[in-house]
Amino acid sequence: MAQLELRNTSKSYGKTVAVKDIELVVEDNEFFCIFGPPSSGKTTILRLLLGLVAPDEGEIIIGDEPVVDQGPKERNLAMVFQNLALFPHMTAGQNLAFPLVERKLEKAAIKARVVEVAETLHITPLLDKMPAHLSGGERQRVAIGRALVRDPAAFLMDEPIAALDARLREEMRVELKRLQRELHHTIVYVTHDQEEAMSIADRIAVMEEGEIRQVGTPAEIYNLPNSRYVAELIGAPPMNFVDGTLANGGRFEGRDVPFSITLEGAEGEGPAALAVRPEDLGIGAAGANGGVEAAIYEVEPLGAFTIVDVSVGEQILKVQAPGQPQFTLGERVNLAVDPDRCHLFHGETGELIRSAR
Ligand SMILES: Nc1ncnc2c1ncn2[C@@H]1O[C@H](COP(=O)(O)OP(=O)(O)O)[C@@H](O)[C@H]1O
Ligand SMILES: [Mg+2]
Repeated sequence: MAQLELRNTSKSYGKTVAVKDIELVVEDNEFFCIFGPPSSGKTTILRLLLGLVAPDEGEIIIGDEPVVDQGPKERNLAMVFQNLALFPHMTAGQNLAFPLVERKLEKAAIKARVVEVAETLHITPLLDKMPAHLSGGERQRVAIGRALVRDPAAFLMDEPIAALDARLREEMRVELKRLQRELHHTIVYVTHDQEEAMSIADRIAVMEEGEIRQVGTPAEIYNLPNSRYVAELIGAPPMNFVDGTLANGGRFEGRDVPFSITLEGAEGEGPAALAVRPEDLGIGAAGANGGVEAAIYEVEPLGAFTIVDVSVGEQILKVQAPGQPQFTLGERVNLAVDPDRCHLFHGETGELIRSAR
């Protein structure tokens, strides 16, 4: 398996800038996620790596070889698309064998390789079945197997499980991660699902309109988002934002909420947005010292935890409380905000002023 690299790479289609100045290094044996909303350039990065399109600018390196002049076959990368497209008239086993048959390998060698890959993927009992008789997850596994038989330099996966139902997606996430660990593959995995990216990746690149905004481990992206854009995209329920003004000395005042807090290390003054994750807010008895006055607006008990919507001034904030606390709608409470758990972003540019600490 190999390291993949894009250096200062750009690609436009007519006037549409698909990706711009991409600097990206995917390490050998890394499970790397490209995450971003639709049309942010994720698929274009895979197509550039694969050699389906040429960059307007920049270099692409696989292993330690520049590959811009090589065709897709020479690059030996395997692509797994969302649209699985197994051949319907072939058994799972014949589907698995197909890339090797196409490459005219010897029959015995093909058989041995198919058996080996089927065992790794736990699909040996499915080999004689037709795709129509396989479940969605089984078909997915066969499709992955078909990419695996060739022993490519790396795998590129474009939203490979997005079409599956929620339970199957969770199963496949674990399966893919386990597989990657066992087989030491380099995987570049595209998704627009933040939970999927967080749960599956060694590192994530967050994209916006053709550019990479932040690269980091899931923990880095979650705990230290470098912009409001990244903070908004990652986490469910999403981070709370309170618009307001930063004054000298790190004093933040909310605009639509009676919210005033001092953030150590927050420098400058002007429009700012305070950001805090639902699990970093606490609900206490009304009138307690040092908090913010709030009222219970809605309660969503989810078993292990409860999402409590509280109204503060003109705004609703989400609090994630452990267990199943009991509240009455309209009840007055005290919202506890720990300044160390708050991020502060610039009110206009969304750039980071201060992280949580
Ligand atoms: N073959 C193409 N022709 C014209 N525009 C394209 C083509 N492929 C992608 N684009 C445009 O490039 C941008 C990025 O697309 P894409 O990489 O597919 O995004 P994503 O995979 O994140 O949804 C989009 O605006 C898309 O419309
Ligand atoms: Mg895409």
